Amino acid sequence: MIEQFKKEVDQGLSASPKTLPSKYFYDEVGDDLFVQIMNMPEYYLTDCELEIFSKKTQELIDAFDINQNQEFEIIELGAGDGTKTKHLLKSLIDQEYNFTYIPIDISQNALDKLEKLLYEAWPNQKVRTMQGDYFGVLESLREGKKKKIVLFMGSNLGNMPHDRAHDFISKLGVNLNKGDRLLLGLDIIKDRSIVLPAYNDAQGITKAFNLNLLTRMNRELNANFDLSGFDHDPEYSEETGAAKSFILSTKDQEVIITAIGKSYHFKKGERIQTEISQKYNAEILQEVTKESHFEITDKIYDSRRYFADVILERK
Ligand SMILES: C[S@@+](CC[C@H](N)C(=O)[O-])C[C@H]1O[C@@H](n2cnc3c(N)ncnc32)[C@H](O)[C@@H]1O
Repeated sequence: MIEQFKKEVDQGLSASPKTLPSKYFYDEVGDDLFVQIMNMPEYYLTDCELEIFSKKTQELIDAFDINQNQEFEIIELGAGDGTKTKHLLKSLIDQEYNFTYIPIDISQNALDKLEKLLYEAWPNQKVRTMQGDYFGVLESLREGKKKKIVLFMGSNLGNMPHDRAHDFISKLGVNLNKGDRLLLGLDIIKDRSIVLPAYNDAQGITKAFNLNLLTRMNRELNANFDLSGFDHDPEYSEETGAAKSFILSTKDQEVIITAIGKSYHFKKGERIQTEISQKYNAEILQEVTKESHFEITDKIYDSRRYFADVILERK
């Protein structure tokens, strides 16, 4: 894990322009900050998808095309705290469906919390947590004959640029079987006055979340980032639908990362891209799902039509 972290940080900070992978946001502090982000008034994404999962639960279940006599698996990629998923699980359990819930997350801390919460609510429900990078677990999905419903919620697909999103969907398609379903939670392209505050809130929680990456490198890689020399710098283009977060160097500075044994120079005004949150429309969805084994069968929207849970069937 630490070797991979070192390698990816070195690659990202040696590149031009500089980048850092967003998956490293999620240490213990990052997990908590992300829960706070989801509860911020500006972060409409969670409210929208929560509305779908709590008010349109039966529509989701119908779209999965499952029945009470058939055992299946619900596999959630990047499950986080499971707040939205719980509504779906409750409805399935109340209706006595026979299934195993398999949350996958890079954060063991998030999985431990989720497992405890699920056990307290439904001690008899089958739950199997898997810690790891979801790119790495794609192949293990293939094992087993049970029907699979794969959940990729919370606009997580939006954290990949188009080519990686396309590659990811294609690989999922290869590793699933005919009749399996994929649910993609996608944020819809909309006005910047709605989107940008979700990544730049008044209280500074998104700033703390972004800069926590530097704190994590200081702690785990023995780096000497001085946080007062860096700022949070998000942007959004309605044309492309890309919301990007950057860490901006507010001065010329040199940072040593002892665990890597190298130092990195940051010019005043230079930015490190830390995250992309791609918003979708029908064309972009078509582009990332083309030639992928999947066919879109349903699109379930919240009442404001800000967000969609798109259901795809593996053909
Ligand atoms: C944006 S949160 C979304 C959580 C939840 N799915 C939701 O919709 O509320 C992303 C979650 O995915 C996890 N994650 C991010 N990158 C990952 C990766 N490459 N592999 C596995 N989990 C990842 C994080 O630990 C975090 O819990």
